[in-house]
Amino acid sequence: MANYTIAVLPGDGIGPEVINEATETLKVISDKYGHNFTLNYGLIGGAAIEAEGSALSDFTLGVCRSSGAVLLGAVGDPRYDRPDNDVRPEDGLLAIRKGLGLFANIRPVKVYKELENNTRFKPEAICSSDFVFVRELTGGVYFGRPKRRWETTRGRRAVDSMVYTEQEISRIVKVGFELARQRKKHLISVDKANVLMSSRLWRQVTEEVGADYPDVTLEHLLVDACAMKLIQDPRYFDVVVTENMFGDILTDEASVLAGSLGMLPSASLAGVPQSGRNIFGLYEPVHGSAPTIAGHDIANPIATILTLAMMLRYSFNLEDEAGAIEKAVQKVLSQGYRTSDIMDDGCKKVGTSKMGELVRGRLE
Ligand code: IPM
Ligand code: MG
Repeated sequence: MANYTIAVLPGDGIGPEVINEATETLKVISDKYGHNFTLNYGLIGGAAIEAEGSALSDFTLGVCRSSGAVLLGAVGDPRYDRPDNDVRPEDGLLAIRKGLGLFANIRPVKVYKELENNTRFKPEAICSSDFVFVRELTGGVYFGRPKRRWETTRGRRAVDSMVYTEQEISRIVKVGFELARQRKKHLISVDKANVLMSSRLWRQVTEEVGADYPDVTLEHLLVDACAMKLIQDPRYFDVVVTENMFGDILTDEASVLAGSLGMLPSASLAGVPQSGRNIFGLYEPVHGSAPTIAGHDIANPIATILTLAMMLRYSFNLEDEAGAIEKAVQKVLSQGYRTSDIMDDGCKKVGTSKMGELVRGRLE
């Protein structure tokens, strides 16, 4: 029996509820396929500030480091939202990304046929869109130095810096090329090379790395043009690679195509995913902690359940198990079950735990 150790960080708001549906799903996978998953729990975000005094303790980091993967619910608590607050739940997220070297954020966007009517787009314009964002996660303007705020004789000033080294660029674009190679072999690299120095380096390094991937078509797109193209013609996209902040913004935009944030999984990896290799990673749904609906059994657990599938695929190389989860989700949707965020005429409305149970019941 194979053994796998997973750090589980439920976090804040709806985090614990959706994580529970994922861990219950893991139990079914474990029985069906004969694996042994050991779960080690830790705190992050507001829950950690409350209990441990910081959004990410050394204890939690240690739990993560001694595991093969990290499963995270959501981070964020409105009680810490004031601008003058210096401890924030979100700091836990940035610290864990940096602390565990999770430089590659993979965010797949898939428009399910069953949910085409749930968006403001014409179904024929978005149907069967299926692409993957690769967002650089530990560099750029989020982490670049100098980063500070100070007083001058003419008032307050603040600076953030968008910094990239060629090593940071080449390792992330490699992830893009590898994923493109496993898909439709079309990689779009997004930058702002008409204005930014860091983007010009990005473009140059991407071209150099591309020489090793002659089978992949590489295209460069400016970030503003990409923002437009994403909603004009989402079916054009296969794999998109971009720096940290562009990726943050574009993935929120792209998520609208899927009908609900409650449908989108993500993985943050510490290495380049290649089939047959186990890559350490942190897995979290794209949605936040949704404090207003927390505890009411209405959150959509599908994003977290699909996130679990990504974990089995990338960190444990369990492709069949991952595929079985994705198929079960597809089945539940085609049988007309919906949580309230994706509810449609003629469908059957269910809560968080019921949705989880339905998915588990369809695992083959
Ligand atoms: C995300 C979030 C985070 C980010 C915030 C919560 C720090 O928006 O994961 O996309 O900006 O990276
Ligand atoms: Mg974001």
